[in-house]
Amino acid sequence: MNVIHRGRTKPFRTVDFDAPANAVLLIEQRLLPHRFKVVSMSTHRDTAAAIRDMIVRGAGAIGATAAYGLAQGAREFGGRGRVAFERHVDRVFEHLKSARPTAVDPVNAMVEVRRRMSQGTTVAECQSLALEAARAFAEENVQHCREIGRHGAPLIREGMRVLTHCNAGWLAFVDIGTATAPLYAAQAEGRNFHVFCDETRPRSQGATLTAWELHQQGIAHSVIADNAAGHLMQRGEIDLVIVGSDRVLGRTGEVANKIGTYTKAVLARRHRIPFYVAIPLSTIDWEMTDGLQIPIEERAGEEVLGAWGVDAAGRRRQVRVANPGSTARNPGFDVTPAELITGIITPVGILKPGQLWKNRARLGGTSAVGGSVGGASSASP
Ligand code: MRU
Repeated sequence: MNVIHRGRTKPFRTVDFDAPANAVLLIEQRLLPHRFKVVSMSTHRDTAAAIRDMIVRGAGAIGATAAYGLAQGAREFGGRGRVAFERHVDRVFEHLKSARPTAVDPVNAMVEVRRRMSQGTTVAECQSLALEAARAFAEENVQHCREIGRHGAPLIREGMRVLTHCNAGWLAFVDIGTATAPLYAAQAEGRNFHVFCDETRPRSQGATLTAWELHQQGIAHSVIADNAAGHLMQRGEIDLVIVGSDRVLGRTGEVANKIGTYTKAVLARRHRIPFYVAIPLSTIDWEMTDGLQIPIEERAGEEVLGAWGVDAAGRRRQVRVANPGSTARNPGFDVTPAELITGIITPVGILKPGQLWKNRARLGGTSAVGGSVGGASSASP
């Protein structure tokens, strides 16, 4: 998407790869909206750390980062022989996989890279296939978001007020985003609407990233405190909710997404407001059978006890908000049951959560009941 950077408008992608340097290029998302900076990860260990430390975040973006990280790790191999190479790639895979647990996209992305790599006969051929496959994953992610925009745009009617939670915009993918794709497509079709961005404590992805994205794209929006949505819904000031997801269970239609999503879905049902979830195909887990099995990332309590921002000199700082001496609990995600979801906006169209499984062939799943697809099983706890 376009970014106004140093007075100029330039297109950027969230994740890219510099092949001559064997480096993964990322937008340093922790600095946004105060500073726009692209950083370079020169080893697969740096790339995994960037995922873990949330330099890059969002299911699709960490999926593409892990895919490039695996190719990067494969290209780092300095040993001899195919057996040693495979062992090295196993280690790189596990290291990248362990960076963050809830989103299934990194595992699905890396399984696909490995599948393509296995078609090579020499180490050099495998290394080059790995990079090709990572690039293909990133391109497919962009294509999926574009299709989500096409299918979702008719939901955004003139004058609507739309609520979104966290950031499922282009910063959470390679480009365009999922929850934002219908918004960008409706804007391109000339419609006016207003977006409410949940602040999304404790890391404030809504207040920092979604608000920044919408501002860059010239879309009218307001940041609201996480607790304000119910009040606005009760007063008839929200017409539609669209969120993204980190893992959708293909068998049950349950949706894992940023903490607070479940609360918004309950409120939307109470007020009869349509609640949509927008996802690329790499977000579907065809293996898990129950939302309670989804590994929910528990993050450091400091995130809840304080807040990050910039000081008057533009330096990024954390301040303590909570009572000194108090501790915190910080689950990063929650699971919304299928019955609260109006529709899942996918690249192949809008489906009811309960229709995913029977449409699994169209959605990149297996046609054989119980078969594993896209490696999601290896993401199971
Ligand atoms: O912790 P994050 O920022 O990586 O969380 C991911 C999210 O932004 C969301 O929950 C989002 O809606 C789905 S990821 C595209």
